[in-house]
Amino acid sequence: GRRVRIHHLRELKERGEAWPMLTAYDMYTAAIFDEAGIPVLLVGDSAANNVFGYDTSIPVTVDELLPLVRGVTRSVTRALVVADLPFGSYQLSVEQALGTAVRFMKEGRAHAVKLEGGRRFAPHIEAITAAGIPVMAHIGFTPQSEHNLGGYRVQGRGAGGDELVADAHAVQQAGAFAVVMEMVPGEVAKRVTHELHIPTVGIGAGPDCDAQVLVWQDMAGLRTGKAPRFVKRYANVADVLTGAAHAFADDVRNGEFPAAQHTFQ
Ligand code: KIV
Ligand code: NA
Repeated sequence: GRRVRIHHLRELKERGEAWPMLTAYDMYTAAIFDEAGIPVLLVGDSAANNVFGYDTSIPVTVDELLPLVRGVTRSVTRALVVADLPFGSYQLSVEQALGTAVRFMKEGRAHAVKLEGGRRFAPHIEAITAAGIPVMAHIGFTPQSEHNLGGYRVQGRGAGGDELVADAHAVQQAGAFAVVMEMVPGEVAKRVTHELHIPTVGIGAGPDCDAQVLVWQDMAGLRTGKAPRFVKRYANVADVLTGAAHAFADDVRNGEFPAAQHTFQ
């Protein structure tokens, strides 16, 4: 059916209905999550450490992300697809930010873009929005600034709470249609969610946000090992794939695959 539009997300907030968001980086996951009724899919720069094998999101490029965005947008009929602007593709100037956002819309066929930053990125958000491109902001812990923030740590504690609230108001004022809050105290996220009229999307931001997002490999248990506190695993895809790989390997080694039914006569 009907395509998800940014005004639908605002309506969900007004009705107090929480909505889910997941990352997706390819055709099958995008189609499955779309079919499952996930209204918003994010082609995150988290592809860096979930697809491309980098250890952080810093090195991933526009040229690497664009084909993933195109694959996801081609594979959905309903979901709103948000393309993440990678590190270095929007921080140099407002013009650079607009240029990169335009590429994700024209070449990636994204429906919206996302960038990290609060007050200091209000001019960038304003310019992109003025060009007709919806912008999702991302505040709190922003992985592209990991080195400046002193590693993976909760943001907005103590006096930082007022800073986070100021960032949230600034991105709303600049025209953002939604704002991701990553790793912020639940009480601060709750305050922001009540004060803003645009939807808040939490990741490690407690239960009071308007929406919740997870990286799909975390959500589905494709990534193994220690996960951050905010992750909940809903499946164990790593075990399923490991079992399938072992079964295939055993069949080949034992001469049980291919059988007559897999063989052309
Ligand atoms: O890149 C990403 O996956 C993200 C979400 C976790 C919000 O930015
Ligand atoms: Na991201």
